[in-house]
Amino acid sequence: MLDVQKIRKDFPILNRTVNGKPLIYFDNAATSQTPQQVIDVIVDYYSNYNANIHRGVHSLSQEATDAYEQARIKIQKHFNAKHSYEIIYTAGTTHSINLVANGFSSLLKKGDEIIVSALEHHSNIVPWQMLCERTGAILKVIPMNENGELILSDYDALLNEHTKLVFVNHISNALGTINPIESIIEKAHAVGAAVLIDGAQSCPHLKPDVQALDVDFYVCSAHKICGPTGVGMLYGKEEWLNKLPPYQGGGEMIAEVSFEKTTYAGLPHKFEAGTPNICGGIAFGAALDYMNNIGFENIAKYENELLAYGTEQLLKIEGLKIYGTAKEKTSVISFNVGTIHPYDIGTILDKMGIAVRTGHHCAQPIMDFYKIPGTIRASFMFYNTKEEIDTFIVALKKAIMMLS
Ligand code: ALA
Repeated sequence: MLDVQKIRKDFPILNRTVNGKPLIYFDNAATSQTPQQVIDVIVDYYSNYNANIHRGVHSLSQEATDAYEQARIKIQKHFNAKHSYEIIYTAGTTHSINLVANGFSSLLKKGDEIIVSALEHHSNIVPWQMLCERTGAILKVIPMNENGELILSDYDALLNEHTKLVFVNHISNALGTINPIESIIEKAHAVGAAVLIDGAQSCPHLKPDVQALDVDFYVCSAHKICGPTGVGMLYGKEEWLNKLPPYQGGGEMIAEVSFEKTTYAGLPHKFEAGTPNICGGIAFGAALDYMNNIGFENIAKYENELLAYGTEQLLKIEGLKIYGTAKEKTSVISFNVGTIHPYDIGTILDKMGIAVRTGHHCAQPIMDFYKIPGTIRASFMFYNTKEEIDTFIVALKKAIMMLS
């Protein structure tokens, strides 16, 4: 069981007011808040051992290198990767996806097919469209149904011997749908295609096991998991990471450089050109420690309660429609009320101290499917409470009255 009141004390930001009201932070799918334990790690780094890594013989550089590489091992263990060098530090999910998409430029040819899903964030659509433009590969889309679930029989029909890659998010950021990635991966592998799973929205709520999933690439960002922005990871199977060419050239990613020829470093450094986000990587490890101490089973159980309670309370409001009613979903509720524009409701909620996201959530194809400009999205984390949901419902009703 979670002691939510104790957990809330770890998050200094939850004590602040916004527009004179206590902050209610329901925009966790955009970014999570940071506990004091992670803030302390960041302050400690800059106060005590800030130095460049893998470069210096001096003590500070060695301390920073050790902490950064220890964090890589924490990430490896968390995701159950076979080797720590299969974990590549990146600037976040978008960077990870672009790294893979760029690498596949040299592995695809005209007429090859790649598959995305209708539930993707723009970051898991646009890099593949750019890849298709570069290579002549063809982009196909697994459609969705009214509940916001992927239509798997259509996926079966899309797969064939030309399919080289499949890209699907583990959880939809706009609707909260949990996709059946186990069977998506298995079916892709049956035709010899590689699979990349966008874990940006799943990592805060569950603990993926990349070996059990047998996934080829898995990507996520630290800031969704109580870590800082500007850092994330790419997990790739060793064989795939060896096949992909480097993404960026520079220091740190080389074995030897001359004007005639440069050879590249081995994994993971081949993909880590330039001075990385050292503090961010260390704090990423600390964030995983924090989440693991609470326990992902406890987190999932509690967040499911918040989801059920929030859904039940929202559905009591006349004219309110929830988008995304999949059987398997996480603590994200996207909705609209009658013809009121989401932006107007979001603005009034902010005046009452409540942070939600409004708009298309970087998932315009989903909004097009429902023929709406956007939604109001409330997304909960383990530090939110049913009392906050009650306050949100009262505020929402007030907003609706003002706008009707
Ligand atoms: N991808 C983030 C969201 O869904 C920013 O809000």
